[in-house]
Amino acid sequence: MKSLTLSMLLLAAALPGVAVAGDAAAGKQKALQACAVCHGQVGIAAAPETPNPAGEPAGYLARAAACLPQRQAPARGDGVIAKSLSDEEIDNVTAWFSSIQVSATAP
Ligand code: HEC
Repeated sequence: MKSLTLSMLLLAAALPGVAVAGDAAAGKQKALQACAVCHGQVGIAAAPETPNPAGEPAGYLARAAACLPQRQAPARGDGVIAKSLSDEEIDNVTAWFSSIQVSATAP
């Protein structure tokens, strides 16, 4: 428990300006179950026309609520899954995806 708290503090220190309320470890489990089929195991999308949530700021990831059916075209499977998440679970998957480190390489 102590080391978990320490690593969370280190993570917070490594991400200045990123205020994330959720539990990233719990969010990882939820994301593997509910998001990975489209957004990939580490948040790099597996499916076409699907954004990469890895490393995105919490403000962007909070828009996972955009997956709710009333905000989505009927053809999008996203809504059904996101609707089954509580606010706490959304906070957790947000903490997980935003904690992933991403790098880009120019061609
Ligand atoms: C069935 C495939 C699928 C699953 C499962 C899925 N998504 Fe998505 N998601 C999509 C697609 C496709 C889009 C792009 C929608 C668009 O272009 O409007 C998207 C968009 C998003 C966005 C961006 C919203 C915006 O306003 O741009 C976020 C954040 C997101 N998903 C989070 C999640 C999270 C968190 C989960 C798991 C709880 C999840 N998604 C599960 C397919 C999926």
